Amino acid sequence: MRYSGYAYINTIGCQMNVYDSEKLAAILNALGFAHTRNLDQADIVVCNTCSIRHKAEEKAFSFLGRFAKEKQKKPHLLTVMAGCVAQQEGNNAFKRLPHLDLVLGTQAFSRFGRHIDALQSGQRQIVDTGPSDVIFEAMPDDTNFLENQVSRFVTIMQGCDNYCTYCVVPYVRGRERSRFWKSIVKEIQVLADKGIREITLLGQNVNSYGVKEGGISFAALLGKVACIEKILRIRFATSHPKDLSPDLIQAMADLDKVCSHLHLPVQSGSDNILQKMNRGYTRKTYLSRINDLKNTCPDIALSTDIIVGFPYETRADFNDTLSLLTEVQFDSIFAFAYSDRSSAPAAKFAGQVDEKEKMDRLNQLLALQDSVTKKKNKYLKGQIMEVLVEGFSARHHDGFVKTSDNMKQMTGRTASNKVVHFPSETIRVGDLVNITIENAYLHSLWGRPTESEHHEE
Ligand code: SAH
Ligand code: SF4
Ligand code: F3S
Repeated sequence: MRYSGYAYINTIGCQMNVYDSEKLAAILNALGFAHTRNLDQADIVVCNTCSIRHKAEEKAFSFLGRFAKEKQKKPHLLTVMAGCVAQQEGNNAFKRLPHLDLVLGTQAFSRFGRHIDALQSGQRQIVDTGPSDVIFEAMPDDTNFLENQVSRFVTIMQGCDNYCTYCVVPYVRGRERSRFWKSIVKEIQVLADKGIREITLLGQNVNSYGVKEGGISFAALLGKVACIEKILRIRFATSHPKDLSPDLIQAMADLDKVCSHLHLPVQSGSDNILQKMNRGYTRKTYLSRINDLKNTCPDIALSTDIIVGFPYETRADFNDTLSLLTEVQFDSIFAFAYSDRSSAPAAKFAGQVDEKEKMDRLNQLLALQDSVTKKKNKYLKGQIMEVLVEGFSARHHDGFVKTSDNMKQMTGRTASNKVVHFPSETIRVGDLVNITIENAYLHSLWGRPTESEHHEE
């Protein structure tokens, strides 16, 4: 069936949700719905949700909760909860959101169109948390391609088999499964032809890509993607420290297009806590992998995820995390206070840490990392860095940011994933340019194109 009207999609959560939302957008588009960024205009509202922490889950309920009233004024308005909270809650979602029309679990996306048809014919409170009935590859491409985009995410595998004791992902995303490499390459080729220059390959544990299916390795997949001519840069996330293989480290060193940046979540610097988290590595093995990386790729940028206040974490355990940060000198970190998830085993652990103590530890950790980041960024002053241009720095609604010499300010990223602002009237989005770094801040760098780059066309 074809319909008319406007769809609004709100995406909460990780990069995989961004990718999934693009697929949902494509389905809605094919059914005749145009996209809107104006909620008042919407005939269908989709919230693609995340349940990794309590706060993310609450965000989804509070966003969708708003529409109870709205539907009284606008009875034809359809509301959809999609993704990880939908998978976790199923029918229970209606207890808090009785006005909700569709609960679409993480493996039900391919049936979204069918459910929209049912809603249009008057059915309400539909729940689909069933398993996937088509191969993952069968999801449509995004036809509503956004102009001027440079970078896109491509999910190469779904689910997770690692069962870290704090994490909901294995329960809401299911068992790990990898896509066939040819369909990944085909999808990226289409994106490259439409102007995309940077691809981030996504999976919860990319190092085990293809292992279950007996397919090519992740390092081999990087090689295949690197052969796509118009793709200039390749990134990936996330690598699990226990599975980081020497052939992946070597592929990072050998393949120019693969950015010299690795996100390697450590979670804690204490062996006692790592064991309780079921992470499958020790502080020593983590640090030895970091050492291998630094030896093979000397210019590598490193980032990580940390959880503070995991059950049983003592001050001494936390100090081990602080000392690990000092030892590794990460370029950036993502740090979270432990959040109890009822489906994950750690919720039943004794030794829960007091909320205020968690916040104190989080603040102390972030302050330490800020000092490391500042120092590392300062060191870049005077260096020439290659930047992939993403667009203009339009920080204000009333126009572009202008520099003192009245040039438009542009923005892009280094291979190490640092944001760089620079003035130019001539450089185009999607160009790779050399920038001399003149100033370094906590969250960005500022520079000017090198002389050869700085010509009028
Ligand atoms: N697969 C990736 C990360 C997935 S979730 C990995 O293994 O590293 C992203 C991050 O959220 C995790 O790295 C972890 O730091 C954090 N996280 C997951 N569950 C959490 C919880 N219950 N409380 C707080 N942070 C959590
Ligand atoms: Fe969660 Fe652990 Fe899987 Fe990452 S590896 S998604 S933290 S269970
Ligand atoms: Fe959140 Fe689901 Fe991603 S729980 S982090 S949206 S896999």
